[in-house]
Amino acid sequence: MIASAPGKVIVFGEHSVVYGKHAVVSAINLRCYVKVKKSREVRITSSFGTTGYDFAGKHAYISHAIRRFSEVCEVGGVEVEVRSDIPPASGLGSSAAVTVATLGALNAEFNAGLGREEIFELARKVELDVQGIGSGTDPFVSTFGGSWVLPEKRRFHTDLEFEVIDSGETSVTAEMVRRVRELRDAYPDVILPVLDAMDAIAVRGAEALERNDIAEISRLFRMNQSLLRAIGVSTPEIDRIVARVEEAGYSAKITGAGGGGCVLTTGMGEMRISLSAEGVRVEDFEDWGSADN
Ligand code: PMV
Repeated sequence: MIASAPGKVIVFGEHSVVYGKHAVVSAINLRCYVKVKKSREVRITSSFGTTGYDFAGKHAYISHAIRRFSEVCEVGGVEVEVRSDIPPASGLGSSAAVTVATLGALNAEFNAGLGREEIFELARKVELDVQGIGSGTDPFVSTFGGSWVLPEKRRFHTDLEFEVIDSGETSVTAEMVRRVRELRDAYPDVILPVLDAMDAIAVRGAEALERNDIAEISRLFRMNQSLLRAIGVSTPEIDRIVARVEEAGYSAKITGAGGGGCVLTTGMGEMRISLSAEGVRVEDFEDWGSADN
């Protein structure tokens, strides 16, 4: 069976969400597809190569997903094949998407009858198995799809489309979160108001997205990017990308932890993305040949 799950973007609220402020996140139309077939042994194939169980390597998320799934349903062996539209390690949620798609495909192949809530719970455990920490946002958005205001988990819809530019630099979330915390501890009088301003931007941003108000989103992107720069998570390369996008009349901001990773833009990007994509689903094609990726 084949299942797929979407990647995600944080539209507003990265970092400030760590301090209980609002964030706006959305599933995107880039998906990860996983094909699963009962077999005598475990074999995992992706663009990284073919392995068996690979808990500490390139197939850590898939390996842990199989293990967590086998706690609720017996799996003798399984052949897993992955195809993904989502660039890895770029803040677009590729790890959660491959985890959720694997669980979705196992669920279908073994007729386990799990609902989305149960798939999310397993995916959340896998995130913790591999990363040790994690807010659970990525597996949540990848499982349920759609666009959400956090921490309330209020669903909303937007028809707006964005573009994404990969800075080519890797973004290490835990490291960036640690740096922001240090800055906040050293300069609370400066940083706390910045986090409050990010919160206000996220609240306005959700409203503007719902109204499909791209002019307002553009203004909010500029403000948010300046604040992300103020808390030290931009880089010279990201600043150059943002400047190029702004010179062309669009707006851009980091999406995710920063220090590298992807920039979300209102235009002039490398990849077009639409928001509010559907969550995990079983695909009705049996053959990769008919997949459109
Ligand atoms: O880089 P990503 O997509 O994992 O996003 C990190 C978002 C942060 O707010 C920086 C951290 C978090 O856990 O919310």
